[in-house]
Amino acid sequence: MPVPKNDNVLVGFGYKDDAGVYKITGDTCLIQTVDFFTPVVDDPYTFGQIAAANALSDIYAMGGKPLTALNIACFPIKEIEKEVFNRILLGGLDKINESGAALLGGHSIDDKELKYGLSVTGVCNINEIYSNQGARPGDTLYLTKSLGTGFVVSAICTDFLSADSLNEASLSMSKLNKKASELAVSLKLPNAITDITGFGLIGHLSEMMIASSASCEINLKSLPIINGVIELIKKGINPAGTKRNRKYFSKYVRVHKGLDDNLILLAFGAETSGGLAISVPESKSEALELAFKNAGEPLFKIGNVKQKEVKDGALVYLV
Ligand code: CO
Ligand code: CO
Repeated sequence: MPVPKNDNVLVGFGYKDDAGVYKITGDTCLIQTVDFFTPVVDDPYTFGQIAAANALSDIYAMGGKPLTALNIACFPIKEIEKEVFNRILLGGLDKINESGAALLGGHSIDDKELKYGLSVTGVCNINEIYSNQGARPGDTLYLTKSLGTGFVVSAICTDFLSADSLNEASLSMSKLNKKASELAVSLKLPNAITDITGFGLIGHLSEMMIASSASCEINLKSLPIINGVIELIKKGINPAGTKRNRKYFSKYVRVHKGLDDNLILLAFGAETSGGLAISVPESKSEALELAFKNAGEPLFKIGNVKQKEVKDGALVYLV
């Protein structure tokens, strides 16, 4: 689309980043994002929590602080009890409150298919914008949540999913990326941050590498996995989003011989409300690990950033 240039837009349309950034006054920038989707779990309250955590995540991925939120709701008013909608909105409010943002209102329409999410406005300092552009060769790559939520969500209507896996995935999806973002930003350690959602680990890292003109190496065996997900993959659970990711992003990926195909599929897997991927200079990686450890926050080292090989052109090497 022919979007005119605007000097106040620091991250805008055309950037494949998590949220837009607009300079308002002095060092202060606005961050804006919107995200909503159809239910991923059966429990309305949990779905509300997950949709809100997911929408807030794009503010955290830019290193920002959420200030205000608006509900976006598409509800089949005649088909579903009002109590279900109330539970969804309460779940969302629960996460907005936890984030410290204020819910200002929202908009709802009658729709055949239920959808819920938020538009979120946040702020950040102009010198502390963590876009996906800054990753440098030599950086260490970290992930803050386990992978596999997409496989769990797809397995909900099957007999293969255990209550434990669903519980672990629900807790993970509804967890805010607030603490992880605050820790990383307060230490001023990262070169780049993004969050892992629909395009999966490989898709979002590919975008970070494109924006950073670099490539990365991911150690498949080091990937944190929600319990039971590999069993689901072995049973043939292969979500449509994951298939699309593999089809689209495979051109950027080089796979070392002899790797477990289940782990490769996991790395392509579409995630819902996933964790942050953080790129940190190697010299500062120990400080980041210590800070997360002291705060009791999970942090998994998954690989590193490399020089991009011009001939090869690959963005992600799976080893
Ligand atoms: Co994002
Ligand atoms: Co988003």
